[in-house]
Amino acid sequence: MINYKDLGLVNTREMFRKAVDGGYAIPAFNFNNMEQLQAIIMAAAETKSPVILQVSKGARQYANQTLLRYMAEGAVEYAKELGWENPQIVLHLDHGDAFETCKSCIDMGFSSVMIDGSHLPYDENVALTKKVVDYAHQFDVTVEGELGVLAGVEDEVSAAESHYTKPEEVVDFVTKTGCDSLAISIGTSHGAFKFTPEQCTLDPETGRLVPPPLAFDVLSEIEKQLPGFPIVLHGSSSVPQDEVDTINKYGGALKAAVGIPEEQLRKASKSAVCKINIDSDSRLAMTAAVREVFANKPAEFDPRKYLGPARDNMKKLYIHKIKEVLGSDNKA
Ligand code: G3H
Ligand code: 13P
Ligand code: ZN
Repeated sequence: MINYKDLGLVNTREMFRKAVDGGYAIPAFNFNNMEQLQAIIMAAAETKSPVILQVSKGARQYANQTLLRYMAEGAVEYAKELGWENPQIVLHLDHGDAFETCKSCIDMGFSSVMIDGSHLPYDENVALTKKVVDYAHQFDVTVEGELGVLAGVEDEVSAAESHYTKPEEVVDFVTKTGCDSLAISIGTSHGAFKFTPEQCTLDPETGRLVPPPLAFDVLSEIEKQLPGFPIVLHGSSSVPQDEVDTINKYGGALKAAVGIPEEQLRKASKSAVCKINIDSDSRLAMTAAVREVFANKPAEFDPRKYLGPARDNMKKLYIHKIKEVLGSDNKA
């Protein structure tokens, strides 16, 4: 049993309280490789932003859970080397699918876990989430639960349709489970294709797809039911069109990729939403940079020559999110 505190990590409790009070949101960036982790830590250190490092089931399968945990431990020391005196870094399990997965992460030093019982019948979701909370709280590890279903195209988190969170259920769920934060469904979804073209309108000036707005009425009803309680938004990539264009220009085939407009995430960050999950945007930034190098320098075969630009591009993206969208800079 390793306690995250011995690794220099923090849980989300204090971080979320400050974010809700201060009207900003903490970035939760997924990572599964070294360049992504370096870019996240460089961006957080440079902007003095608290940050949540998220590990998905797919990431654990790809990179190995133990290795990712040691990388996060190294990230704390790296952040200090970069001049961030008191790094506020959370290591979080994203979309935990079972009690055993959450326990295994807690036992090896994760400071926060999500148990995603959103696909289960309500009572089973309550029972599973409570079981994880009861275990996690013994070690002061914080727990994110989820109510409502996000639509998504990714392997581990796929559902054909979204079902908004029912505001009338949230008090009962939080009270019965004791969870520390709640992920809700208000129209975001996972991946780079969040809406079908039919669900969007066409901007006549740019020819771009404009997605439907998030259900802010559902969010404010949830806030009324749970005043000051930390709310989480998954599926919050914006799918930057310049990255999509670069990918397509250099041989990619991402048609009709569309995300959540940044103004909506800015608005959400000022509410009780205090954690915003971003993964796809980082994948796009990485892919765009790699494709550009491959297209312009076909003789290049040193991975550092394409992963380096990919890292730079991801760092730029993370800094943009922190400073221009979530407002979490200078909060750590
Ligand atoms: O919420 C899902 C994340 O984007 C992780 O996706 O399972 O493909 O790593 P993944
Ligand atoms: P995106 O696919 O919008 O980046 O969402 C990531 C996420 O919710 C991770 O849990
Ligand atoms: Zn998610």
